Amino acid sequence: MEQQLIHPAALNIDDLSTYYHQQTALHHLSFEAPAHAITVIIGPSGCGKSTLLKTINRTIEDEEDTRWDGTVTLFGDDTKKMSKEEVHTKIGLVFQTPAPFPFSIYRNMTYALAYHGMHDKQQQCSIIEEKLRIVGLYDEVYDRLKESACALSGGQQQRLCIARALTVNPDVLMLDEPCSALDSKSTHAIERTLKSLSKTTTIVLVTHNIGQARRLADKVIYLSDGSIVEQGSAQQMFTQPRDPRTAEFIDDIGSAV
Ligand SMILES: Nc1ncnc2c1ncn2[C@@H]1O[C@H](COP(=O)(O)OP(=O)(O)O)[C@@H](O)[C@H]1O
Ligand SMILES: [Mg+2]
Repeated sequence: MEQQLIHPAALNIDDLSTYYHQQTALHHLSFEAPAHAITVIIGPSGCGKSTLLKTINRTIEDEEDTRWDGTVTLFGDDTKKMSKEEVHTKIGLVFQTPAPFPFSIYRNMTYALAYHGMHDKQQQCSIIEEKLRIVGLYDEVYDRLKESACALSGGQQQRLCIARALTVNPDVLMLDEPCSALDSKSTHAIERTLKSLSKTTTIVLVTHNIGQARRLADKVIYLSDGSIVEQGSAQQMFTQPRDPRTAEFIDDIGSAV
């Protein structure tokens, strides 16, 4: 029996298709990401995982000759009725390669706050501390906030990028293979962060690492060739996949790690 996901949907994706230069990259995807849970998207390279995240938060619209159809609703609100900036704020996206801005740690953390008109130093400092603590970085950097973010290690940079995304309190945090460039110690630090963060924030995670998917997922979506092959609770997907293609992918990639 499939374990029921008890949380209501934070994100509701309905009949979503994305096109690059008239070529279809995503075909009529429909799924929900439950609130305060981790939805993990797995699938082979080139199947459309990054395209899906970019479509959900509408960064795809900044690329030339792209188009998407369908509906994305966030707690019932159609994101097409929001400005792109509002969608970026409510649905954060952290990329595969840690990409801090080439400024100080402090300025990375206040960048979005300043954009949203929050200039009060005391308030900024308390938000910085709160968010850096969530990602376990505060004790490592509190005495060098004015130093360049680029001097941090890869794992620290990625945790900074997560903390930076959290400064504007997104409803949903999406991460695109956030640990693929990191060692196992940094990977585990990020996994711990995501697990505890999921109590308050909805997380959508793309990962190549099936061990990571097993450790973190509440729900799993298996994407292949731009289509959803199967989706379900993590327990069902990992123990009793219904589609033989899901079982094959999990076995193959699991044994390759
Ligand atoms: N900017 C682009 N222009 C044209 N095709 C693209 C572009 N980005 C991705 N694609 C194509 O869309 C498909 C999905 O790519 P992507 O979303 O990056 O897959 P994944 O993240 O699963 O590896 C691939 O066939 C890829 O070649
Ligand atoms: Mg990708």
